[in-house]
Amino acid sequence: MRAYLAHVELPNPILTAAGCAGTGRELAPFADVTRLGALTTRSITMAPRAGRPTPRMAETPSGLLTSVGLQGPGVDAFLARELPWLAERGTRTVVSIAGGSVAEYTALARRLADAPGVTAVEINLSCPNVEDRGRVFARDAVAAAEVVASVRAALRYDVPVVAKLAPDVADVVAIARACVDSGADALAMINTPIGMSVDVDTMRPVLAAGAGGLSGPAIRPLAVRCVWQVHAALPGVPLVGMGGVTSGRDALELVLAGACAVAVGTTLFHDPYACPRILRELEELLQERGFDRLADAVGVAHRPAQARVDSSRTDASKIDLEESSL
Ligand SMILES: Cc1cc2nc3c(=O)[nH]c(=O)nc-3n(C[C@H](O)[C@H](O)[C@H](O)COP(=O)(O)O)c2cc1C
Repeated sequence: MRAYLAHVELPNPILTAAGCAGTGRELAPFADVTRLGALTTRSITMAPRAGRPTPRMAETPSGLLTSVGLQGPGVDAFLARELPWLAERGTRTVVSIAGGSVAEYTALARRLADAPGVTAVEINLSCPNVEDRGRVFARDAVAAAEVVASVRAALRYDVPVVAKLAPDVADVVAIARACVDSGADALAMINTPIGMSVDVDTMRPVLAAGAGGLSGPAIRPLAVRCVWQVHAALPGVPLVGMGGVTSGRDALELVLAGACAVAVGTTLFHDPYACPRILRELEELLQERGFDRLADAVGVAHRPAQARVDSSRTDASKIDLEESSL
């Protein structure tokens, strides 16, 4: 079942989410990485990073709290050892990049510009901007747009730039629009909203860093809401949906809300075989519903309801997200 990431054709719409399949080698014992729609790498940084102190992970009801802190050996090691391993196998690779300033994101994009095997570049905007008192790029439309424009300019035009958005912002559509207006070819959503757990026995935060990113099924409704809102506002923009996908049904939910590809993250930690299963399930569900092509199902939940037996059901065209939260 073919899919598209902007203008790039993928053999199927199931990707791995950044940070949940390392840079491929970690997943390879369990799944053929070349059969993924694409593998998204963990976010690559300019310099090596040791990450945050432990504990960095805590389970929560239906979710996972993590504060890994972008651990990794830096872009030189990635280009020398990790990207060639993926390229040799013909894996479609979305390289996620993370930086603390516009200049750092730009420098990373320049390093990737001539590297063989880069299918797309995903900008992890959930990073603190060291030049603006640590205000996260994903929460600031102007700063996010600056990063996107600069990364776009540093890459060949045929390499799609995907801006990855955070859900815990006042107006996700405003951030999405700013990224698209400044050159993003596609948007990925959602990154992890910030959460926290306190251990009632030790009476201290569970994570050493205090707060962390919440992922897994607990955030799927947030992901569906963000994909829905952005697809409604920017219907022509390709969206990669993610957040708590564990099955083909979950993937289909994001597709119906407006995603044209779906990434699997936290699920891989307990089920590293999940991607081919989720693809199979999604294909079956689409077939059962009479869709010959994935594209025909994208955003279908937005269509006005046809004659409904149950007239009390909400007509999609009339949903007001602000009001429905009251
Ligand atoms: C352990 C872990 C590491 C992650 N690392 C990254 C990362 O390096 N870059 C990034 O953009 N997102 C990262 N994420 C966020 C995921 O890519 C994804 O957006 C989020 O977890 C929601 O999907 P999920 O619920 O399927 O995990 C990470 C998530 C987890 C759980």
